[in-house]
Amino acid sequence: MPYCTWLYILLSLNAISLFPVCTAHRCKVIEEKADCSHLELFSIPPDLPVNITILDLSHNRLKQLPAANLSRYDQLEHLDVGYNTLHIYEPALCEQLPLLKILNLQHNEFTKILEKAFFFCTNLTELHLNSNGIREITGNPFINLQNLKKLDMSHNKMTSMTLGDTEQLIDLTELLFSHNLINELKKEALAFLGNNSVQKLDLSSNPIREIYPGCFQPLNNLNTLIMANMTLGPNLTERLCTELAATKVKTLILLNSQLSKIHNGTFKGLASTPLAFLDISKNSLIQIDDDSFIYLNSLTFLNLEENQVSHLSSRAFKGLSSLKSLNLQKFFSSFKDPKIDDMSFKSLQNLENLNMERNKNIDFTEFTFTGLTSLKDLSLSECSFKTFTNRTFLSLSKSPLLFLNLTKTSISSLEYGVFSSLQQLQILDLGLNRIQQNLNGYEFIGLHNIKMIYLSYNNHLALTSTSFCFVPTLEKLNLRKTALTFKAESRSPFSNLKNLTLLDLGNNNIANMGEDFFADLHNLRILNLQHNNLARLWKKANPGGPVLFLKGLQNLEILDLLSNGFDEIPTNAFKGLSKLNFLNLGENNLYLLPPSLFEDQNSLESLDLHKNLITSVEPNTFKNVFKNLQILNLGQNPFDCTCESIAWFSNWLNTTNITVLGQDTQYVCNTPNNYHGIFVQKFDSAPCKDTAPFKAFFIFTFSITSCLLFLVLFLHFQSWRIQFYWNVVVNTILGFRVIDPGDQTFDYDAYIIHANKDNEWVDRYLLPLEEDTTCQLNFCFEERDFDAGLPIPTLIVNSIRRSRKIIFVISNHLLMDKWCKRFKIYQAIQQAIEQSRDSIILLFIEDIPDYKLNHSINLRRGMFKSRCILQWPAHKERLNAFRQKLKIALGSTNVVN
Ligand SMILES: *[C@@H]1O[C@H](CO)[C@@H](O)[C@H](O)[C@H]1NC(C)=O
Ligand SMILES: *[C@@H]1O[C@H](CO)[C@@H](O)[C@H](O)[C@H]1NC(C)=O
Ligand SMILES: *[C@@H]1O[C@H](CO)[C@@H](O)[C@H](O)[C@H]1NC(C)=O
Ligand SMILES: *[C@@H]1O[C@H](CO)[C@@H](O)[C@H](O)[C@H]1NC(C)=O
Ligand SMILES: *[C@@H]1O[C@H](CO)[C@@H](O)[C@H](O)[C@H]1NC(C)=O
Ligand SMILES: *[C@@H]1O[C@H](CO)[C@@H](O)[C@H](O)[C@H]1NC(C)=O
Ligand SMILES: *[C@@H]1O[C@H](CO)[C@@H](O)[C@H](O)[C@H]1NC(C)=O
Ligand SMILES: *[C@@H]1O[C@H](CO)[C@@H](O)[C@H](O)[C@H]1NC(C)=O
Ligand SMILES: *[C@@H]1O[C@H](CO)[C@@H](O)[C@H](O)[C@H]1NC(C)=O
Repeated sequence: MPYCTWLYILLSLNAISLFPVCTAHRCKVIEEKADCSHLELFSIPPDLPVNITILDLSHNRLKQLPAANLSRYDQLEHLDVGYNTLHIYEPALCEQLPLLKILNLQHNEFTKILEKAFFFCTNLTELHLNSNGIREITGNPFINLQNLKKLDMSHNKMTSMTLGDTEQLIDLTELLFSHNLINELKKEALAFLGNNSVQKLDLSSNPIREIYPGCFQPLNNLNTLIMANMTLGPNLTERLCTELAATKVKTLILLNSQLSKIHNGTFKGLASTPLAFLDISKNSLIQIDDDSFIYLNSLTFLNLEENQVSHLSSRAFKGLSSLKSLNLQKFFSSFKDPKIDDMSFKSLQNLENLNMERNKNIDFTEFTFTGLTSLKDLSLSECSFKTFTNRTFLSLSKSPLLFLNLTKTSISSLEYGVFSSLQQLQILDLGLNRIQQNLNGYEFIGLHNIKMIYLSYNNHLALTSTSFCFVPTLEKLNLRKTALTFKAESRSPFSNLKNLTLLDLGNNNIANMGEDFFADLHNLRILNLQHNNLARLWKKANPGGPVLFLKGLQNLEILDLLSNGFDEIPTNAFKGLSKLNFLNLGENNLYLLPPSLFEDQNSLESLDLHKNLITSVEPNTFKNVFKNLQILNLGQNPFDCTCESIAWFSNWLNTTNITVLGQDTQYVCNTPNNYHGIFVQKFDSAPCKDTAPFKAFFIFTFSITSCLLFLVLFLHFQSWRIQFYWNVVVNTILGFRVIDPGDQTFDYDAYIIHANKDNEWVDRYLLPLEEDTTCQLNFCFEERDFDAGLPIPTLIVNSIRRSRKIIFVISNHLLMDKWCKRFKIYQAIQQAIEQSRDSIILLFIEDIPDYKLNHSINLRRGMFKSRCILQWPAHKERLNAFRQKLKIALGSTNVVN
């Protein structure tokens, strides 16, 4: 036998042996209640705690209910075996369960009730036998149910309400008989009700054709009668009401009962009842005659929803002086334009609530609502108006109306003073309309007590600085998705709404607002700006700098900036918003948050930054704001999972108790490659811990190395300067004499050092300067002034000593001339250093770069004062200037300072 087959048999055996245990464990036992519903059980679980009081066995496959099997659970008070396939019922059940109060046998297959079925059920208060196919009751099976309060016989096949032939069920208050086959109401049928205790009777969906006199006499305590979904019609309804005169009916539901017309006799029978609630909705009612309700003067609630009335006469509601609430939703004919007579509501002086929703093409005159002196709430949503002018609500001027709902009414414009008669109005709902206009303020004139105007979802609104100038009491203003524009004016349209607490400007594509746009809204607590286009306002590059449009909102608690395209946030964007506890910045393009951005947000409870471009969550930005947070959403950001960017956050996520939305799915690393796609929480932060000392060490070594490097480079490039000044300083300190023009007289003004090859140049250009009378210069020129006899080096040294300055005629020749390089220049420099003389003048007759100068004669331009560096001019015109410079150079002091 193959291995698999053995395995299969083994598993099957296992399953069979474990089966009872399994079923028992699948029941949910909570305290005294065992829920075994929807478990496909064929039998009663035998191993539940014996002390349960509630057992739910509904929606299983029980075919029988053996009393013996239930006897274990003798503490049961509530047993539900509905939705099974029971057809046998053992009378011993109640004997075994003496405490049973509620027995639910609905949706089973009982067609008969045995005479003795409930013989022992004396403690039963509720019995559900609905949906079983029971045709009739023979004998008196309920005779012992003296405590029964509720009996549900609905959805059976009973043709009569008869449940016995002697008086019984003395405590029954609720009898449900809907969806049966009862076609007549007879006094005899209910004779079994001994004590007139029934208060609620449901006879809905029965084919009742006849109502006999006295049929409600056994029900004279009846309080609620439900007769919905019937074919009563006007005549039978009238009969019904006549019979109900014997009762104390307060609630009568005649919904969908083919009551097409009502006239002054229809409800006459109800005159003696305390009827308070009447529902005649969905009756295709086409006509309400004058004085139809004249007998119902205790009625407080009347539901006439969904009918087809085309004319409402001024006397239709006469007599309804106690009415508080009238439902006229979809009341008027949808085929003909309805006519509402003037003063139709004048008798309803106590009416507070009038619902006229979903009526088409209605027209209100200056007198329609006259007399509604208590009306507080009028809803006209989804209505359409023939005309909508500033006379439409004129007739409400005497009503203390607080709430007017005009949503979805296709209003396209608001006239001057359209609400001017509604001085008490507090809430005005104008949402979901087609309003398209400039609001200049006069639309709302007269609304002296208005607290909320809901204008969201309209076609186009343009605001000016006066739009809300007549409604300074406003507390809530909703302007979401209204294609809002602002007429460029200096003052904000909201500046006089000092009591405003809620402002909704979402979904408007607003791209511009000034810094003081909300500055006067000191009481604002909720500001919705989601789905706008405010990104530019916070850019550094914005002309004039970022616009801090949240300035002045010191009481703001909820701020929604979702989806605005923000990619920059100024450091002080949220400054002063210290009461903020909900902030939504989700679905923007933010990637860098300034460290002190949330400095003032110590009480933030919910922060949403989902779907941005945040790579790094660092403690210096978030530590403060996370302190009191309860909900965080930072999901769907491209996190960079490196130690610097994420280690802190990863640890925080791991240990935090607050609600982090999408914690298990939406915090995913994007970079670096080896972490791509890994959850942030899985980031291994262990290696990061070692970086702290390493970092310090790194900084230390880096600094040292940098310093050394700098020193080396400095020495390399500037050592000549140091050497030069060092020599000068040493010589000064060691007391070499300082030669100054005052101390000593020189034979020559200057000694000229030049290359032999430049002889000609010197002769031609330099020497002629001696003849210049203004200068009276006297050069020492070897070829001319050297005495014969002495050795040349001595002569040179002497001559240099006897000259006040030394002119180096610098050309490429000089740099190549070995004699000059090795001796003359060396001597001159020695002399200059020894005597602390600033005596050398460099005269460039060719362009020589500094490095070349340094390389061949160890001099640099930087060693000399700028006045001692001269350039032979290429242009003749500059010769005079050159002479002047030379004179200055020759005349300057030789002391190094
Ligand atoms: C029911 O019985 C169980 C033991 O079978 C016991 O633990 C539990 O406390 C009892 N509950 C009540 C409400 O008596
Ligand atoms: C009805 O319930 C009470 C406790 O509420 C009990 O004492 C009495 O025996 C029960 N009646 C019957 C007939 O079992
Ligand atoms: C009347 O019939 C409708 C539609 O068949 C149903 O939804 C409603 O529950 C019924 N009302 C009553 C009170 O039976
Ligand atoms: C209703 O009663 C009126 C007179 O009371 C009668 O003319 C009419 O035929 C009756 N309608 C029906 C449908 O029985
Ligand atoms: C009821 O209306 C009829 C006409 O439809 C009228 O003759 C009768 O007087 C009215 N009854 C009362 C009580 O108003
Ligand atoms: C106005 O009526 C509509 C439709 O019944 C409802 O959805 C809306 O909430 C109402 N407006 C207010 C402010 O209650
Ligand atoms: C109605 O509006 C017109 C202009 O549209 C205005 O002249 C008139 O005064 C307004 N009436 C009321 C009552 O506000
Ligand atoms: C603003 O609210 C305060 C306090 O509720 C109230 O006293 C004041 O009258 C209100 N101002 C306006 C213009 O309604
Ligand atoms: C974070 O969670 C992971 C897995 O749940 C665990 O292995 C790790 O030790 C935790 N780290 C901290 C800092 O709690």
